[in-house]
Amino acid sequence: MTNRIKEFKNMVDHLTDVPKKVIDKEKNVTRSSPYRQKYHVESESGTLGDPNGFSYFNGKYHLFYQWSPLAYSIEPHYTQHGWKHLTSDDLVHWQDLGAAIESDTKYDRYGTYSGSAIPENDKLLMIYTGNTWINTETKNNWLRVPYQVTAYMDKDNKVHRGNDPIMEGAISGYTAHFRDPKVWKKNGEYYAILGVQRANLTGTALIIHSKDFKDWNLLGELNTKYDSLGYMWECPDYFELDEKGVLVFCPQGLKSTGNEYQNIYQTCYLLGNKLSLPDTKFSTGDLKELDHGFDLYASQTMSSPDGRRILISWMGLPETSYPTEKFHYSGCMTIPKELRIKNNKLYQIPIKELDTCRVNKQTIRETLKDEVYHRKLRQAANEYDFTIDFKNSNAFIIDLFADEEDQRRFRIILNKKKSEIVLDRSKAGEDISIAYGTTRTLDYAMDNKINVRIYTDTSSVELFINGGEEVFTSRIFPDKSQSNFFLTSIGGTTNITGQTYEMNGQG
Ligand code: FRU
Repeated sequence: MTNRIKEFKNMVDHLTDVPKKVIDKEKNVTRSSPYRQKYHVESESGTLGDPNGFSYFNGKYHLFYQWSPLAYSIEPHYTQHGWKHLTSDDLVHWQDLGAAIESDTKYDRYGTYSGSAIPENDKLLMIYTGNTWINTETKNNWLRVPYQVTAYMDKDNKVHRGNDPIMEGAISGYTAHFRDPKVWKKNGEYYAILGVQRANLTGTALIIHSKDFKDWNLLGELNTKYDSLGYMWECPDYFELDEKGVLVFCPQGLKSTGNEYQNIYQTCYLLGNKLSLPDTKFSTGDLKELDHGFDLYASQTMSSPDGRRILISWMGLPETSYPTEKFHYSGCMTIPKELRIKNNKLYQIPIKELDTCRVNKQTIRETLKDEVYHRKLRQAANEYDFTIDFKNSNAFIIDLFADEEDQRRFRIILNKKKSEIVLDRSKAGEDISIAYGTTRTLDYAMDNKINVRIYTDTSSVELFINGGEEVFTSRIFPDKSQSNFFLTSIGGTTNITGQTYEMNGQG
């Protein structure tokens, strides 16, 4: 607790109160990083966390995120934890509008935590959790008090707050881990889902309802088949797609079993019948992991003007330190993905707008007989679209970010014989979170043909298997010499056809 109290004492409320030279210094340190991404959203300094308020309003896409721009500066202790604001015409090229919400009211003094937004005429309605701490006793007994707060953004991108909270503290039966409202509209009325912890320290979600976005009432706990699933659910997002109901959420505290739940925290989903309202019954299939890579958390979805359900996530994990911190920043967003439902599974497809960034297409058409194919890449941002045809081979290996000798590399093993896909980050560059292991494995039965799409940037790899049926998202921190890729057929012949592109960065 001592650190927290220290931070509180020196806290500055607004970025505009911080000397420009301090801000510029942070940005310069960050700019000097060799790991800066070319086409993924990242913070110009400090931390980037959960995507918030992901929406389409006033002719533009809006993306906000959990932001602490001076998190790694020493003085002053500007521990602002607010919402950063970006807008875009195409979900690929983003304009940075700076701080949207700073934590300066009594309801969000110690963090404008995660929340969501929904357009309504000339307003973007917002709902989020304000985090506060109160010192109940003289002896440093700090208690968390969360508030659920509403606000709106006008057409000039100005956020208006000042409403009384719609919920003060947690309600009886739940602890202060009570946050992250995600709003949707159905039949002209508003609903929101909140991640909470029950008093018995298990995680769940609550559904609240309002006719006018002002007066809210509690409908109750989301009634799923899981009575006890982890100790807290963060960042729930409920939506309907193709007459189904889907909940994407982060149940914390799942025990690793076999190949599952290997990261410190996971993002999962439940897919089933539409949520029944007002009784909150949600009948679904079994819990599935949304992503099988090393670094993905806190996803949020929105509906695009042409009716697509689009998901974006933080490419990072809580309580995990990344090598970029020495350059005073951490975190980036994933690429946006379009969601579809097929065979009772959620498919995640890179949005089509990304295709406009393609340059320098190169075709690959190779027959590898227990052979290795080697190519040098010209730059770090690339897309690969391969169809791999196992003729009589057992496995196929894709080494990305490889040095000339293929000693250092990020390895993807498509093991048809063992029916598994393995990611190996052990020799990919600077270590990240090795206490949680350096490989990830998914049991996956392969037909003779498998389609693989991969998006790489300077320090990330996003892998999509068979049209987005399975996704693997990972950060990596390679050095400059790791600019090759190798393809290897194991135990027989594999044909590979497809193309690679370079990706034009942020416009
Ligand atoms: C998830 C989370 C949310 C919270 C936010 C605070 O990463 O812990 O539950 O609202 O981050 O930044």
